[in-house]
Parts: sequence; structure tokens; C-alpha cells
Amino acid sequence: MSLVFAINGQRFELELSSIDPSTTLLEFLRYETSFKSVKLSCGEGGCGACVVLLSKYDHVLHKVEDFTVSSCLTLLCSINHCSITTSEGLGNSRDGFHTIHNRFSGFHASQCGFCTPGMCVSLFSALLEADKSKFTVIEAEKAVLGNLCRCTGYRPIVDACKSFALDVDIEDLGFNSFCKKGDTDSSSLIRFDSEKTVCTFPEFLKDEIKSIDSGVYQWCSPASVEELQSLLEAFKANSDGVSIKLVAGNTSMGYYKDEREKNYEKYIDITRIPELKQIRENHNRVEIGAVVTISKVIAALKEIRVSPRVEKMFGKLATHMEKIAARFIRNFGSIGGNLVMAQRKQFPSDMATILLAANAFVNIMSSKRGFEKLTLEEFLQRSPLEAYDLVLSIEIPFWHCETNSELLFETYRAAPRPNGSALAYLNAAFLAEVKDTMVINCRLAFGAYGTKHAIRCKEVEEFLVGKVITENVLYEAITLLGNTVVPQGGTSHPAYRSSLARGFLFEFFHTLITHHTTEKPSKPLPMLSSSQHVPLNDEYYPVGKAVTKAGASLQASGEAVFVDDIPSPKNCLYGAFIYSKKPFAQIKGIHFKENSIPDGVVAVISCKDVPKGGKNVGMKTGIGTDILFAEQFTVSVGECIAIVVADTQRHADTAANLAVVGYETENLEPPILSIEDAVKKSSLFQIFPFLYPQQVGDTSKGMAEADHQILSSEIRLGSQYFFYMETQTALAVPDEDNSIVVYSSSQTPQYVHSSVAACLGIPENNVRVITRRVGGGFGGKAVKSMPVATACAVAANKLQRPVRIYVNRKTDMIMTGGRHPMKITYSVGFKSTGKITALELEILIDAGASIGFSMLMPSNIIGALKKYDWGALSFDIKLCKTNLLSKAIMRAPGDVQGTYIAEAIIENVASSLSLEADAIRKINLHTYESLALFYKDGAGEPHEYTLPSMWDKVGVSSNFEERVSIVREFNESNIWRKRGISRVPITYQVSMLATPGRVSILGDGTIVVEVGGIELGQGLWTKVKQMTGYALGLLQCDRTEELLEKIRVVQSDSLSMVQGNFTGGSTTSEGSCEAVRLCCETLVKRLKPLMERSGGRISWNKLISQAYAQSVNLSASDLYTPTDTPTRYLNYGVAVSEVEVDLVTGQTTVLQTDILYDCGKSLNPAIDLGQIEGSFVQGLGFFMLEEYITDSEGLVVTDSTWTYKIPTVDTIPKQFNVEILNSGCHEKRVLSSKASGEPPLLLAASVHCATREAVKEARKQLWTWKGEDGSSFQLPVPATMPVVKELCGLDIVETYLKWKITQ
Ligand SMILES: Cc1cc2nc3c(=O)[nH]c(=O)nc-3n(C[C@H](O)[C@H](O)[C@H](O)COP(=O)(O)OP(=O)(O)OC[C@H]3O[C@@H](n4cnc5c(N)ncnc54)[C@H](O)[C@@H]3O)c2cc1C
Ligand code: FES
Ligand code: FES
Repeated sequence: MSLVFAINGQRFELELSSIDPSTTLLEFLRYETSFKSVKLSCGEGGCGACVVLLSKYDHVLHKVEDFTVSSCLTLLCSINHCSITTSEGLGNSRDGFHTIHNRFSGFHASQCGFCTPGMCVSLFSALLEADKSKFTVIEAEKAVLGNLCRCTGYRPIVDACKSFALDVDIEDLGFNSFCKKGDTDSSSLIRFDSEKTVCTFPEFLKDEIKSIDSGVYQWCSPASVEELQSLLEAFKANSDGVSIKLVAGNTSMGYYKDEREKNYEKYIDITRIPELKQIRENHNRVEIGAVVTISKVIAALKEIRVSPRVEKMFGKLATHMEKIAARFIRNFGSIGGNLVMAQRKQFPSDMATILLAANAFVNIMSSKRGFEKLTLEEFLQRSPLEAYDLVLSIEIPFWHCETNSELLFETYRAAPRPNGSALAYLNAAFLAEVKDTMVINCRLAFGAYGTKHAIRCKEVEEFLVGKVITENVLYEAITLLGNTVVPQGGTSHPAYRSSLARGFLFEFFHTLITHHTTEKPSKPLPMLSSSQHVPLNDEYYPVGKAVTKAGASLQASGEAVFVDDIPSPKNCLYGAFIYSKKPFAQIKGIHFKENSIPDGVVAVISCKDVPKGGKNVGMKTGIGTDILFAEQFTVSVGECIAIVVADTQRHADTAANLAVVGYETENLEPPILSIEDAVKKSSLFQIFPFLYPQQVGDTSKGMAEADHQILSSEIRLGSQYFFYMETQTALAVPDEDNSIVVYSSSQTPQYVHSSVAACLGIPENNVRVITRRVGGGFGGKAVKSMPVATACAVAANKLQRPVRIYVNRKTDMIMTGGRHPMKITYSVGFKSTGKITALELEILIDAGASIGFSMLMPSNIIGALKKYDWGALSFDIKLCKTNLLSKAIMRAPGDVQGTYIAEAIIENVASSLSLEADAIRKINLHTYESLALFYKDGAGEPHEYTLPSMWDKVGVSSNFEERVSIVREFNESNIWRKRGISRVPITYQVSMLATPGRVSILGDGTIVVEVGGIELGQGLWTKVKQMTGYALGLLQCDRTEELLEKIRVVQSDSLSMVQGNFTGGSTTSEGSCEAVRLCCETLVKRLKPLMERSGGRISWNKLISQAYAQSVNLSASDLYTPTDTPTRYLNYGVAVSEVEVDLVTGQTTVLQTDILYDCGKSLNPAIDLGQIEGSFVQGLGFFMLEEYITDSEGLVVTDSTWTYKIPTVDTIPKQFNVEILNSGCHEKRVLSSKASGEPPLLLAASVHCATREAVKEARKQLWTWKGEDGSSFQLPVPATMPVVKELCGLDIVETYLKWKITQ
């Protein structure tokens, strides 16, 4: 039997017997076809990078059904007779890009581009789906919900989606290249027309859907329950006991990743069985077949029209189900699959909880008991289903109650992302039949809180039945509930989860208490909207123009080539890391579980394989070196011990999981696992004196002048993971004469180059490192890319075969590390006015086991902290050497912590004086004189110090003062929601680095540019192109404006462009632009005489032909060095953020953010805008969402998209306004431009500060109820829901009720 399907209209036929049934669609697409737009980022259904459109044809109804699925979880065998459309299938560079691709490009919605193809397919599918009902702005906002992007901050992506909505007001669309604010003509925004669009299901495939052969192969597809039954019986009868797996959508593999490694003898696809696919409705219930997908269940429930109360209840069930996973999971994941996961493996299901409250039934067919109908409760309480047991259907009854009673039904969930794509901390659903305020009957279900399965709280139900709801009754009910909803040991945030249960029960019943309600009815939160004020500047045309990103459409169609998209050379092998799980131990050896070599393994490469003459070096930079493979001892968890090399990436990953490292810890000192311990043991890294920042003034004097002092206050800050969408990857190919070519996803190819050469012991001219583009770096692909490339090179050298590694997400999270955690102790002196006179700090930084670039941290922390005039400033900073993973420098390294420390101090001062933090900020802003004292020559000229005027300007543009009063009023009239607003300034020091460039003009007049900087998504190539256009345009040939089209920036090649240096620190674009400008200056000088000789204007192409004829050298290279300018300068920005905190769940919604950022004369305002928004949202993740947790030995436990939550569309500011300030001429800058890559990340502190304000209000209220004082508190980072809730009172509802009762 063969498997027949289509991909992008192309027919594929595979012999079923030749396919490993565990092969995913993604593996097939990426490894067996030329289609590469489908990206692997998480491999667990949590990011959307791999989304494809799956189309099925119903040959009875003659209808094509299209929907998205995550190809990383979809099994190849389950797509028989389906058609797949990927982003390059929508359009491409050869056949023409699709409107969606162009829209992403024109809205500047693609930066690194790794997420973009998945985004495009998600939008395409949403447009197809909505075509019948017409695509609206509401649907546009949901189109990419669940797709992650780490670069853009989502705003431009949402705008690109909205631009297709029929009800869009073009005034509401963000900055784009199609229409400007004020335009009334939207004709450039072509509407989406599904009739004219891509054919998602080719005709030839329709003809092939004939009768399906349901023979018995390793993959079986029975066509009826009877057929399935006989198959199961046959397998069961087999004396050897056949291992089987029933497959519906297979999305459970995203959670149970070990499933990937199991080799079942039989896979039984149950999705073709008609009985399991049906939805049947009769007068008292709806019965849903077990394989019906969640999306179809949602649609069906919304259609039920039995009675208004049933309709309402089913509507609520459907709305809750829309928060299960992402659309591309709901489209393939089944209702039955979900319940089986909950029943068999304690999955924290929403479905089980809400259906439990709805009194659902489950029909099952078990091998032991035959057909049975169970209540969902019985089903969940049963011992786990066996592999041969089948769920047939789920029945949801229509709840009928007495005519004079009311049916209340509500569902709840608290999760880090409000609209789904995150498991709940707790979910609940309550059904109650009430007469006036008396409870006649109720069902209270809770789940996902660290329980075996969803439960009903019968004790509370029984207590409530027959009772009139009063505050006293509710208080008792809640107290009872507190004893029942208790998370199992080991569950995170147990007290928070229990408090949610009590909060939700309160929310449900408190509306019945007639005399309650001081609260205004809640308004739905606004839709996303934004505004951008972007200065355009044509002084250096085309520099200053908002040119769309070079290659953006190519990124959208997925044709842009990343390292893992380079086809594997012949004989290629694949590697996976074996990392240490012990912080400090002797390595006794490595073997595999059961002592058998796993499938496909070719070698295990460790320090023994470093060639003679080479050194065990995995990182070599100007600052130092670090080892590649652990030798005798491990020095931290997550350290590389070896790589296992196999014939496929999957085999390598599986083998690495099966590897067992023998450790011995006897007679060893205990590892250093805290900074305190490191200090105690004097385990510190030396900081080069020139990298240690300078103190300012005399703090003893400043302290003496103070009216007040706060002494030895402590702050702790944790880590943050990069979460670039493309994980670490490299490909090493041995070449002639003992040389090697390495393709590396790196921000530092020059250092990858020297690391590889040092490790292999070969001259540097035997190594070539090629980097075309990087799918997000954020600092994580600086130092940490080096060992990946070097390990590939060692393996390739040893085996003399190409070796590539694409590090899986979990390993990447465990091995790469993140931001530096630190502990800060400070003493601050201040006047009664709030003017600070002295600040003394002790900062202990956890640098981990090796130094990396940690030495930059002290000056960065102090650089950002100096944004205020502290009077005098002294500090003692220690870089602690621990047995924890070596830390990396993540976007705004140190600076983000420095800014936060400053704000925490300001807030503490404000709180101790009972003054507004905003007033304390203002009074401590620098004058130019104090700025110059704190920053020395970095302060620039007086006119360049724009911060004070920006502070006032954003105050006006954001309506700050008025909104402060509105927030105050809101807080007075709302009990359960509190708002906060905060304005935060930032100062960010950057340094220019030496950067090379080369510009070459080819015979046809086209221009090729090489730079040392790497395109990471930050728009470097685009700015470089513009600069080349500007600098060559100075020749003033005819049609100079067309030059831009002739320029191509090409990949970085470490042999062609030496001294490439380091892409980071926000200034590489400027440096690369300046290098290119210098090259162009040389070329212009060489071409000028020809121009002059031509006597008048001449076309570019003619000029170049003449130059070729006269052998003018048309290639120029140069190295920009920052010696002629101060190497450092300051960047400024101010943000105002307003948030709303839900006191029952602790959820913070960012209602509005207004940013004003000084870009000098922006080289490309569209790109700078993208950098500002993107880094702000990454900062929002750091301050509010991203919980980076390790176990007691330092091993990262938040190691997946399930546990590590970066921002999504639903967590960005609802109203997001950005203004770029053109602060005019900066003589010493590159064409007066300033940096934008990192500084705006710091502005996200405004969200944290606003949250603190809201929490302050909540605590004020709580402590009034309690009659105590709770004004002094610290809001930790990240201020996640549990953290916020804890500060607002885990017992808030009980306290409120107690207070009410005593009133
Ligand atoms: C990224 C992601 C996020 C998610 N978030 C949530 C969430 O927030 N809330 C929530 O409730 N769920 C969530 N889920 C779970 C999701 O709903 C389930 O993965 C999905 O419903 C499972 O259906 P499936 O058809 O893919 O099952 P499969 O993966 O095909 O099957 C799951 C298991 O059940 C068995 N099985 C399947 N069907 C039957 C049957 N009819 N009879 C007997 N055994 C069967 C299979 O053998 C397998 O062991 C999430 C899933 C993912 C991947
Ligand atoms: S790679 Fe498939 S969802 Fe992330
Ligand atoms: S552009 Fe979205 S992840 Fe980079």
C-alpha cells in the first residue's frame, strides 16, 4: 500500500512499508523535500514555526477543508490523501510572492524571519476560514495567536493581519509602506480573494481518493469500529503481545516527548472510523465522536440551539475550549485524545474540568469489559486506560432545570497567557441551579492545579445545596474548599493555585449577594491598537528612508536560507550533546542505557578526540578561552561532556537521551551553588581594571548630608533565556589539505573561526566560517555559538565526514544559560525632598563556571544605573565563580539590571517618604553638568542631552498627569482590579567597535557588499544597503535613486572578510555602515576622474563599463575604527506604562505604553521602530513573564515552551504608542544616527513599576480590611501572576469576606 499526498501541488507517493510510522511531517518536509519554509523551533507544538496548511477533500460533499497543523507533531502517515501547503507554496521569488508575503514585508513584520513562514501560513488559513464570514479585525488579532516571535514584539505582525480585515480603519494600521496616516485611499492594500488564491487541494489528488486499502501494516487505518476491534483482538492474541499506539492527532507527543523515542510495533490510526468522527444531537444531549478535533467541537457547541440557557452554557464551554493550546493544535488534536491524556497520564486538561462540571459521559470500548458508558468522573477515577482500550464518544447533556430557577454556568482558568497557548495554573468550571440566591443544585469542578485529574468538590457542593448565599456562607464554603484543593507535593506555586480555587468560587457566587457591589461592571479589554510617530529624513537619501527590510519577502516565503536549511552534504552525520547533570563530579565514563548502542550511532566524540596539536578549546576570544569538552571533572550542570554522532538528527538526539554518564563525587569539595558561597570561598573572577567602572564623588559625605537613609536593602534578580527561534546550529565540512568549512549560526564568526583553528590545531587560514543569517541571537549566539561549531568541527575532523548539529530546544535551554543572576545590597541617603545624596552598592554577580564575556557586566550595570544623579556613587562589584552554568550576555546585559536597580531604589525612597515615585524620578534626573560628572566624555555635547525634554514631552503626549488622576479614581471605585501608571527614563551607554567592510562593483553595474556584522534580524543589511546607495550616490550619476536595487549584501565569510569582530552592543549596524561608507568614498575617488572626463551626467552602468574598460579597481575594503570619535555615547528614552491587575488571579494586563526614543537621525526609521518595539517586548518578558527556574544543582527546569513563557500577542500592551525622536545633528555619530537594538529593552521597566503601583493600591485596600500596614514591599522580577497575587494577598477573598461580615 502506498501513501499518496501532495505538497505545494507536487505529488508524493511513498510505499507505506518503507516509512517509519513515527516520522513526522516536519522531518519529511525538511529532510526529504526541497521545501524548507517549515522551521523547527520547539518540536512540541508550542511555537508555530512549523505550521502548515493541511487540506482534506470530502468526495461526498465535494468540499475542501483547510486548516493549520503543527507539522512537528503530525505523523507523516496520517496525511494520506491530504494536501499540504507551506509558505513557499503560497508564493515565492520565482512565481511571485503572495500578497501575504508582501504584506509582512511592507508592514516591517519580519526581522530574523524564522517565525515568519509559520505566521504567513497561520494568517492564510485564518483568511481562508473567515472568507465565508468575512475577515474582521477581531479575527485578525487572533490569526497568529500561539505563534511565537522573539524579534518584532508582534505589533507589526498584528497590523499586517489587520490590513486584510474588512472592517479595518486604515488610520488604525501601524507604520507601513502601503499607506500613510491620513490617507483615505487604501487601494494599495489589496484584499484577500480566496478564489484567486492558491489552490490548496490539487485536482489530481481528488481523483486518487478511491477506496482505501486497510490492510495490516505497521501503520493501520481501520475503517470501522468492527475492523478496529478485530485488529485489536488479533494483536492481543499474539503471544508476544504486540505494542500498539492508537493515533488520533498525535499532538500529545508535544507534551510526552519520550513518545518520540518509543518504537511501537503497530500504529493504529483511528481517525478514519466514521463512528468516531460523528457529532450527533438529540433532545437531551450532544454526542461527540472521540476523534472529533477540538476546533470542530468548538464550532459544533456554538451551533447548539436547544434553549437559551443551554446555548449560553455551551457557548461558555466553547469559549473556554478556544483557550486550549493554539489553533494549529486544536485543529488536529481530538477531544478523546485530550481526555485519554488526562485519564491515563494525569495531563492538566481543561477539557476534563469543564466537561466534569457539565456532567459529561464517556462511552468506551475496553478489552476487558466491552462497551461501557461512564460518567466522566468515573472515567477519570478509573485505573489508567490500557493501550487496547478505546474511547468512542463523549456525551454532554442539555441541562434542564426547574422553570423558576436560574442556571449559572461559568468556566475559569488562570494561565500566563490569557488567550491560550499556556497550561493553566488551575482551571475550574461551576454549574449551579439557583432560585433567587438559594443554591438548589451545583457541580464544582477544579483541575490542573497539581492533581491526578480534575475533581469535583463534593463537600463544598453538599454544603452549598439548600443554602442562601450570604457572605458568611460563602466564607465557610471557601474555607472548606481550601482543605480540598491542595496541590500534590512538588507542584509549583501550590499556595497560589489553592488561592485561585477560592478566588474563582468567590467570583462565581458573589454576584448573588445582592447587597454586594461597589464595583463598576467590568468593561471588556480593548483591542490592540497603536500609533507610531516616525521622522523621515532625506538629507542622506536613501539613508533615513523607511526602506523595507532586505529579503523580507524571501523570509516570509521561507526561501531565506538559515544554517539548517543548507542541504546536508553526502555522507553527512548529525550530532547531539551529552551534557553534565552534576555540578562538580569526576567523570567515570559514558555508556548507553541497557548497554546497547542505540540505532544509527556512529561515534561518541569527547575530549579524547581533540586532534594532536589541537587544544580542548570551545571558545577563544580576546578576553580568554574556555574548554569544549569536560575533561576529568565537570564544573557545572549543562556543561558539554561529549557529542554523540549518528546517521540522523533524531537518532543522535535519542542516543544523547539514552546516554548515561558515570559520576563520582566522593572526596570532592561540595560544589559552589550560590553567590554567597562563592564569596565565602573567595571564588571570584578578576575583573580587568580598565573594565571596572569609576566611582563618583564621596559617598560618606553624601550620606552625611542626607536627611534620611535606607541601609542595606536587598534586591535579587534572576536569569532570562534568549529564546531565539532558531536554536544553536552548525555544519562542519572537512575540505582538502586539512582544512574545514564551518557554517555557523553565530554573532561572532571571527571567534568561531579562531576557536575551531585552536581546537583542531590547524592554522587559521585552513578554516572558513560562513554565516549568512541568524534566526535571532540576542547575545546567545556570541560566546555560546562557538562550542557548537567547534564540536561539529572536531567530529567532522575525526570522522572525515560532514557533521551538523541542530540543538533541540531543551538542550539549548539547558546548555546555553542566560542572563546573569545577581544580588544587590544598597544603602541610599536622601533629603526630605527626595533628592538623593549618596548611593552605595554591593553587587554580587553569578558569572557561572567560566568567564565568557561576564567581565562586561560591571560597567554595563553601572552605566545604566547612572541615569539618575545619585549625588555620590560607590560600589563593590564581584564576579562570582560558581559551579553553575556559565552565563551569557543577553540583549542589554547588565544594563537592564542596572536600570531596574535604579528604579527599585527610587521606589523605595518614594515609599519611605510617602511621595510619588514619579516626583522622585524627576527631581533626580541629571542636569548636563551632573551627567558629565557621571559619564565623563560619554556624555557628549550639552545639546545632545535630550532626556529632560523627552521626560516632559512624553508626559504631554501620553497625557500622564490626567491619567494619574483617572487611575486614582479607578482604584477608588474598583475592589477587584487595580491600576498603576509609571513613567521611567533610561540612559544607555554604547561603545563603537572596529568593523570591516568591502564594496565591489560588478561588470553589469550591480554592487556586492560584505561587512563584518551579521544579519540577526536587526536590519543590518538594509541599513548597509542604504548607506552604500547614499555613498555611491554622491557621484550623482543619472538615476542614482535606482542604485539601491542594484546592491546585494552577501553572507559573512571569515576568510574573505577578516576582523569581522563581534555583532552585538547595538552599534554593529552603524559600524558596518561607516565601514561601507569609507569603502564607497574610495570608489567614488577612483570613479570621479572618469565622471569628470565624461563631461556631464552619465548613467551608472555606462560609468562602470568605462571603469572596467580602463581597469579601474572597483573593489574597495576598509576597516572602520572608532579611534577618531569618542568610542562611547549615550542613548535616551522614556516610557509611560499603565497596567491593570486582577486581584483574584494576579494577572497583569498592560493597558497602554507610550515610548519616546531618541534615535538621532535614524538610518532607517522602520527598522529602528522594529528594534524599539521588539526589544521593549523582550524586556516585558524579563520583567513580567519569563520564569527561569533551576533545580538545587543548577539544572534548568523551565526547559520547554510548556514551562518557559515568552510574550505572545495577548501579553503586549493593548495600546502601544512609539515616537522616534529625531534629535538632529550629532557630529560624532555615523550620519548623526544612534543605536536602537538594546536600549529600549530597559523601557519595559515602566511596566514593572506600574505593576508595583497597582499592587501598592491592592495592598493598601487589603491592609485597610485587615487593619494593618503593608506599605513596604518589593515586587520581584519577573512579576508573574503568582508573584503579583501573593503580594495582593493570597487570602484576599477571605479577608474581604471577613471584613464584610464585621461591617
Ligand atoms: C502545545 C499544546 C498545548 C496544549 N494546551 C492544552 C491546554 O491548555 N489545555 C488542555 O486541556 N489541553 C491542552 N493540550 C492538549 C491537547 O488538547 C491534546 O494534545 C489533544 O487534544 C490530544 O488529541 P490528539 O488527537 O492529538 O491525541 P493523540 O496524541 O493522538 O492521543 C493522545 C493519547 O490518547 C490515545 N488516544 C487518542 N485517542 C484515543 C481514543 N479515542 N481512545 C483511546 N485512546 C486514544 C493515544 O494513543 C495517545 O496515547 C495542548 C497540547 C499541545 C500540543
Ligand atoms: S516547531 Fe512545531 S510548534 Fe514549534
Ligand atoms: S522575526 Fe519573528 S522570531 Fe525573528
